[in-house]
Amino acid sequence: MTQSIRDRYEAAHDDGRPLIGGHRGNPAQHPENTLRSFRSAIAAGCDLIECDVHLSADSRLIVIHDHTLDRTTNGKGLVRDHSAAELRRLDAGQGEHLPLLQEVIELALGKVGLVIEIKQIPIPYPGLEEKLVAMLRQLGAVQECAVVSFYHPSIKVLRGMEPKLQLGLLEGARPIEPARMMREAGADVYSPHWGAMDPQLVKEIHAAGGAVGVWPVDDETAVAWCRFCKPDSIFTNRPVEIGAALRAATPG
Ligand code: G3P
Ligand code: CA
Repeated sequence: MTQSIRDRYEAAHDDGRPLIGGHRGNPAQHPENTLRSFRSAIAAGCDLIECDVHLSADSRLIVIHDHTLDRTTNGKGLVRDHSAAELRRLDAGQGEHLPLLQEVIELALGKVGLVIEIKQIPIPYPGLEEKLVAMLRQLGAVQECAVVSFYHPSIKVLRGMEPKLQLGLLEGARPIEPARMMREAGADVYSPHWGAMDPQLVKEIHAAGGAVGVWPVDDETAVAWCRFCKPDSIFTNRPVEIGAALRAATPG
């Protein structure tokens, strides 16, 4: 059944459980950010999958985490220096290639919410936000996707473009006024590293009408902290094991 990502958050809140997100799919078992990894996360029962997006030299939205090709493919150099056709010829592991964002959206639609992280620093991709919103509209995917970024100005720009799109701020530290940051960017979700979350932060974000999504929740310590702080969504590189641990720990 098609469900908007905002409805997914509300339903999970009503059930008293966090949404479980496959961070880069299911990278514990498959090459990160590949269709195989995303399919595996969906099969593992994730509510959400998360992917990372860059622009190719010919301005196509392509899914890969790093700005460079060296760690996750058999290519070398910057993503932005290669055309989409060149990027698609690379091996991303287990015979997988780098997906276009459109393929990941089409895989997710009707099955899971898709959280799209846009990478705008340190290497900027001018025009990425416009291309992304145009694609989401063209595929009828605006309400089943969220866009998040460490580059908060992009989130503010996106809010001006599309009021129905769920937007999130990524953050590695614990700011003094996270709710104010969220409001100023026009975001719906505040998304810190799990270790930069505390109960007061969750309380303040909820009081401001937002949701808290944390990453990467990959071990028992992180799971225990999430049980204590009660964020709304949890992104993990180990969706099979951590998903099972979290489901066992929550009511219903
Ligand atoms: O979802 C947030 C998280 O993915 C941010 O960090 O470096 O894994 O993309 P990173
Ligand atoms: Ca990411």
